[in-house]
Amino acid sequence: MGVPQVDALVFFGATGDLAYKQIFPSLQGLVKDEGLNIPIIGVSRSGSLEKLKSRAQESLEEHGLLDQAAFQKLTELLRAVQGNYDAPETFTKLRRELGQAERPLHYLAIHPSMFAEVAEGLANSGCTTNSRVVLEKPFGRDLASAQELNKVLHQYFPEEAIFRIDHYLGKEPVQNILYTRFANPIFEPIWNRHYVRSIQITMAEDYGVEDRGKFYEEAGAIRDVIQNHMLQVVSSLTMDPPSGNAPEALRDEKGRLFKAITPLTPADVVRGQYHGYRSVPGVSANSTVETFAAVKLSIDNWRWAGVPIYIRAGKKMALTSAEVVVEFKRPPREAFGEIVPVLSSHMRMRISPDISISMGLRVKIPGERMAGQDVELTLVRQPGEDMPPYQRLLGDAMRGSAALFARQDSVEAQWQVVDGILGNVTPLYTYAPGAWGPEEAYQLIGQHGPWLNPHPPESQS
Ligand code: BG6
Repeated sequence: MGVPQVDALVFFGATGDLAYKQIFPSLQGLVKDEGLNIPIIGVSRSGSLEKLKSRAQESLEEHGLLDQAAFQKLTELLRAVQGNYDAPETFTKLRRELGQAERPLHYLAIHPSMFAEVAEGLANSGCTTNSRVVLEKPFGRDLASAQELNKVLHQYFPEEAIFRIDHYLGKEPVQNILYTRFANPIFEPIWNRHYVRSIQITMAEDYGVEDRGKFYEEAGAIRDVIQNHMLQVVSSLTMDPPSGNAPEALRDEKGRLFKAITPLTPADVVRGQYHGYRSVPGVSANSTVETFAAVKLSIDNWRWAGVPIYIRAGKKMALTSAEVVVEFKRPPREAFGEIVPVLSSHMRMRISPDISISMGLRVKIPGERMAGQDVELTLVRQPGEDMPPYQRLLGDAMRGSAALFARQDSVEAQWQVVDGILGNVTPLYTYAPGAWGPEEAYQLIGQHGPWLNPHPPESQS
């Protein structure tokens, strides 16, 4: 028997930023593409039904996605429940609004500090029976708080009913990394320490923290994107192929990979903050929160021992792009008297803003001399995502498909990796907006450099 579909979708934080930016567009997409036809209940402190409808419309217009027919259907499905998240009446109202629904999905698009309270409110009002819960990141602030949160949630929901979102897992190009690796056996023999010299991952954003100063002050780049999005990319790149067809086979392998990553120490990290961050509203005038982090990871298993993985992620960088480069080893000796440059032989996987997978190789320049040039063969190129990650993930959670969600053991292992570098255990360097982070990041990569800066998308170059 398949996993039952949910029969109502409840989302907390209906007037919030995430609902505006991601949830309304995804809901319209689900109505349009997948015929979503269940009650959708938006819970918030102050959102009347009219307000939610107009927020949804503004969101879709602003994103250029408004589709009259689908939007009309969405507004027919939409309901509103108003009230404080610590007030039992809010949940009584919700239970009433759920009516005949017996298998609701609750999406907590709210500040994580309220997860426990809302879970308790749902349980006390009888809304958790046969339900699922979707939680936004960050899931905890460190290992101890993530463990504590898991303990609280497990009082009300079994692990199989908990869906922890990391929207990078819903990204087409991140799925394509796994697909390409495991659909083409030619990669398997070279995908290890014998052939790979290093791996680089860059997640650069040319914008700052904008109106999220208060949120970002509690996060910083390590908690915001390294612990989750970047480590998920690492796992797609380096995990073993899943064995067997058990539903958890993929997540079992991911979990094993996270557990094999050596916990980071201060020597493995360079933190930076862009000039001007301290004047962002909500940011402390002497904040030491990092808006950039570069880390050097190692994986303690037979496949990857000795292969460094360099990750850097930052705000206010030179451009917006996320990209992976797997660098293959150089020839053991120079057969033709030329020094083959490092990084000639590689595989590049571009995650955003456009999507591509290319192989970098060295070929001979036509002519008498045995001299070469670097070329890239593009295997696939797409302008961008077809389906927004949130739409894919919400659809999966409604169907009960958990493969693209983070499991408890993985989340905790991911925190274990970064736990030792959280806070102010390392110096903070500054960098100019538009730079590729602070100079010190170049020392971290050392002989495995240079850092490979992603190019702008072709239309802009
Ligand atoms: C979010 C972070 O999870 O991911 C943001 O909180 C970041 O700070 C965003 O900008 C990046 O997502 P994407 O899909 O634009 O790469």
